[in-house]
Amino acid sequence: MDKRKIIIDCDPGHDDIMAILTALANDDRLEILGFTTVAGNQTLPKVTNNLLKVEEYLGLDIPVYPGEAHPLIRYGQPQPAAHGESGMDGPILPEPVRKPEELGAVEFYRQILEREEKVTVVALAPLTNLAILLARYGSLAERIEQIVLMGGALNGGNINKCAEFNIWHDPEAAKIVFDSGIPIVMAPLEVCYAGGIMLKEVERFNNDAPVSRLVYELLDFYCEYARKRNWESTAIFDLIPIVYLLAPELFESRQGRIEIIREGEDTQGQTVFTEGDGPHTVLVDTERRRCIDVFFRAIRQLDRRYS
Ligand code: BDR
Ligand code: CA
Repeated sequence: MDKRKIIIDCDPGHDDIMAILTALANDDRLEILGFTTVAGNQTLPKVTNNLLKVEEYLGLDIPVYPGEAHPLIRYGQPQPAAHGESGMDGPILPEPVRKPEELGAVEFYRQILEREEKVTVVALAPLTNLAILLARYGSLAERIEQIVLMGGALNGGNINKCAEFNIWHDPEAAKIVFDSGIPIVMAPLEVCYAGGIMLKEVERFNNDAPVSRLVYELLDFYCEYARKRNWESTAIFDLIPIVYLLAPELFESRQGRIEIIREGEDTQGQTVFTEGDGPHTVLVDTERRRCIDVFFRAIRQLDRRYS
């Protein structure tokens, strides 16, 4: 089977790392051409450093291209309540020796898209990098086979009344990307909740295998938010686009068009979906157990690989 070539655009971020680990475990199906980072959960230097720390812990050699440090026209608003001051609080990992690439994210996209026929972008963060790519090199849009992204909400937000964080953080960028005509698969909040992890399931990672240990320390911090609210489960948001790429049959979806609302205290970043003809697929539901099993299997596999 041909491997699908992907670029992961991210702001690690606990759930970004869960997505990346799941992709790495499935390297017979997904070939990660590179990581691009963008300001979101935390500042650009912090999220880039977080990814490099994880790369170094695992001994990975996938290039990390730093992208945009700020949304297109707004101020960045990091989210320490969810991800801590570092953007990836929990595990104590050594400072990485490894450095990010000197080439920036947008130029990396340009180079790859000029030479590869089909690339899928997995976007797990605000869409600033992709918006700049499209504004600068619009003709390359047709080289992007698909964008599979975590973002948006159908029935209420997690950052204001209507919007999800990634879209809210840079709605102008989201509008450029959603209006580009590129086929987009959107995993909104609702499907991420449907495919969430039970808090008691996190205990399965409380062991000494190297990847489980990392996952446990990350999820233990990440779940604090849910524990404080007495939730029984929590969404590992960014995991869902990767599970979709690996097992699309687990998802119920709708086809149509998404409009991005840019203004309004309650509506900045709202994703308004109209069913019908259009380039956008919205994942609306999944079967929790089978969805989270893709993640559990991936971590087991990585534990074997790294033990
Ligand atoms: C999204 O926001 C970030 O905090 C997460 O990493 C995820 O990409 C969820 O709204
Ligand atoms: Ca993210």
